[in-house]
Amino acid sequence: MKWYKVLGLVYMEGTFIKKVKVGGKSICLVGFEGKLYAVSAKCPHAGADLSEGLCVRKLIVCPYHRYTYNLETGKGGEGQNDFIETYPVEVRDDGVYVGVNTLWDKLKSGFK
Ligand code: FES
Repeated sequence: MKWYKVLGLVYMEGTFIKKVKVGGKSICLVGFEGKLYAVSAKCPHAGADLSEGLCVRKLIVCPYHRYTYNLETGKGGEGQNDFIETYPVEVRDDGVYVGVNTLWDKLKSGFK
């Protein structure tokens, strides 16, 4: 896994959703109830930008058709049968970092 510093982000408390680009991926950084989450910014249903959605009870809600995804697991709501990628996120002394699996990481995990 490779860790990328999120450029141009000042970590803030409170609830927010911000789309950032890290490791070539569009990711939503979500602050909710004192925790920071990183999830894919693209809704798997029809491609909406999840950063334009909202947060409710540890769920990100898609702005198009209101599908929901768990911020910790990425699992879609009941009956959706889908998910979004989740990424580890850390607040360090010099900024916010997001961990993205490399192609090699993905290949290795395929052989476990
Ligand atoms: S595009 Fe997100 S729920 Fe349809």
